[in-house]
Amino acid sequence: MAESKRIEIGEVEVEKIIDALNRFHGIDFSGYSRASFTRRIQRIADKDANGTFDSLLNRVSENKEYFSRFLKEVTVNVTEMFRDPSFFASLRKNVLPELNKQQTLQIWHAACSTGEEVYSMAVLLHEASLLERSTILGTDLNPEVLLKAKQGVFSERDFPEYIQNYERSGGKAALSEYYDSSYGNSVFKPFFKDKMTFSEHNLVNDGSFNKFNLIMCRNVLIYFQKPLQARVLHLFKNSLVTGGFLCLGSKESLLFSDDRLAFEVVDAKEKIYRKI
Ligand SMILES: C[S@@+](CC[C@H](N)C(=O)[O-])C[C@H]1O[C@@H](n2cnc3c(N)ncnc32)[C@H](O)[C@@H]1O
Repeated sequence: MAESKRIEIGEVEVEKIIDALNRFHGIDFSGYSRASFTRRIQRIADKDANGTFDSLLNRVSENKEYFSRFLKEVTVNVTEMFRDPSFFASLRKNVLPELNKQQTLQIWHAACSTGEEVYSMAVLLHEASLLERSTILGTDLNPEVLLKAKQGVFSERDFPEYIQNYERSGGKAALSEYYDSSYGNSVFKPFFKDKMTFSEHNLVNDGSFNKFNLIMCRNVLIYFQKPLQARVLHLFKNSLVTGGFLCLGSKESLLFSDDRLAFEVVDAKEKIYRKI
């Protein structure tokens, strides 16, 4: 039996995939960092290609179900509750007391994936008696992850780690007070979900929804090239009220963008900035 040949993904193949994603699905990946994008396409090709690059390209272009799986693999969806507990501790200390001065709060989690970060923030808001006056928007490019975020159902298996993270973030209650567990799943109490809306939003070309008091966009800008990062940071600047906060991921920074002068640094290590 002939052994199937590995499909090598190089610059030409990546360009073809980017073109197909744009033409058939209206998603523009041309501003994503090429090295990691190429690696992920190579991984998908190794698993799925069925022999030829053209068959992969056709499936990505025309097969809806395959495209949905492809999208999930090509964008990294990894997340967890209270990810980087010291970041959430800094939010409690440096941001929530300032938010407490506002009558109503608009909060945007851009690129929220399956919602773990959104529920973590909602717990913080609840513990600071701010949840009642908050409206929380979670957005992502990928409708599948948003469906999961809307449900607010997480695997019980992950909770030992989440509970540790929560305690390290300065959580005083038992995290289990906030969800009900059954059949291996943990479902957050409805009063959290009541404050949340989830909706599709593409950071590459969509505009803003509103003026926000806090925007969190963590662990997605690292996948973008500098010009796209700058575009997104500009969108965030324009979407914040004066005095509003912007939170980025631990490997991301505002300091390379032209918009940095519109912000002061609240916590350099935790990448928390405030619009001045
Ligand atoms: C690694 S997850 C980050 C989740 C969460 N913010 C965290 O830090 O745990 C990155 C998310 O960015 C989303 N994403 C990638 N490109 C995007 C884009 N252009 N617009 C909106 N979301 C995007 C992916 O679908 C994925 O869910």
